[in-house]
Amino acid sequence: MDLRDKHIVLGLTGGVACYKAAELCRGLLKEGATVQVVMTEAACRFITPVTMQALSGRPVFTSQWDDREANNMPHINLAREADMILLAPCSADFIARLAQGRADELLSLMCLARPAARVPLLLAPAMNREMWSHPATQRNLQQVVADGATVLGVGHGDQACGETGDGRMLEPDEILQDVIAALQAPSLRGRHVLVTAGPTYEAIDPVRGITNLSSGKMGYAVARAAREAGARVTLVSGPVSLPAPRGVARISVRSAREMHQATLAEAPAADVFIATAAVADWRVANAAQQKIKKDGSGAAPALQFEENPDILADVARSDRARSGALLCVGFAAESEDLLANAQAKRLRKGVPLLVGNLGPATFGQDDNALLLVSEQGVEELARDSKLALARRLVARCASMLDGGRIHAG
Ligand code: C5P
Repeated sequence: MDLRDKHIVLGLTGGVACYKAAELCRGLLKEGATVQVVMTEAACRFITPVTMQALSGRPVFTSQWDDREANNMPHINLAREADMILLAPCSADFIARLAQGRADELLSLMCLARPAARVPLLLAPAMNREMWSHPATQRNLQQVVADGATVLGVGHGDQACGETGDGRMLEPDEILQDVIAALQAPSLRGRHVLVTAGPTYEAIDPVRGITNLSSGKMGYAVARAAREAGARVTLVSGPVSLPAPRGVARISVRSAREMHQATLAEAPAADVFIATAAVADWRVANAAQQKIKKDGSGAAPALQFEENPDILADVARSDRARSGALLCVGFAAESEDLLANAQAKRLRKGVPLLVGNLGPATFGQDDNALLLVSEQGVEELARDSKLALARRLVARCASMLDGGRIHAG
């Protein structure tokens, strides 16, 4: 429930994508928000206020002359109650109206009257590709961004008009993720965060390999949380079945050596490196080019192993990490004696912050419990969702960056 206690004013303007606003409304409610729907006259042509009232559980506002409000000022009251105004779908015409500061119908009037310092305004545009790329629309978008609105971007694909291109409204789930992100503290704005996640896969032959039980969920949650906090995020991921978090640049790799190469290439541009990946310590030195066959003798193939590079230790050894320009964070998945193992691992890896967790209790789960071990001491984060824990870890990284306390010591 990432939107508990949040009151969202959901504004609908005229466009076929209004049908997706019904699903979006349900998604906002599911995350714990209360939703007040406001619709323009054009929006009411595409979906009825009845549907939106039934879904949101509140009467819909469509007119600035609505005398249900005691002071007859719905534009003031609605904007003051809101934690956010979300326009989805936001038409080309409505973007033009916002750019001009028009106030001749309720929704634009309310946007103009919003207390801008406290209530963010998010737009999910929806229109034909030619309308989207038209200089007038792009000019208007620049203006509304300059005036303090956040534009969520558009999707690419088939459009209701039969054409294909940019301009579709984002899917309800994508908008939901952006809404949740917009309400998090921007503690890593302007920072670049590099994350490794998932297992590695070490080939034995073209059809077999050695891997481990990491689902990648913790690392993906860390990448998402860093993105929510405003960072540019690069995620170097081993083979997992998770979609890349929204707005995160994912580099997919398979073996430890590929992960090592990709990570070391990205590290020089990063401010924070968080190593959550469960990297195989060993790879098969004599991996076969073709599938190894049973020869009927009962003899097992003789596999030889070679040690993989330690990605975290290599990054932590770099000049930037040593000088404090790059904050390195390691993870330790232990099966016992978490505190002692985590403390020892922090010193061995030479990192300022080491996050301990109990492997068998977290593999594949959606929740976890963490121990943050640093020079300053130990902080226990009690069992919670991986995303909630990741947000706390990200906040900790932000405060270490801000406080300059990022030496391995
Ligand atoms: O040594 P151990 O594997 O227990 O250390 C765990 C930490 O080191 C994790 O942060 C993991 O991502 C990182 N690691 C690494 N490269 C390796 C082994 C571990 O980056 N080859």
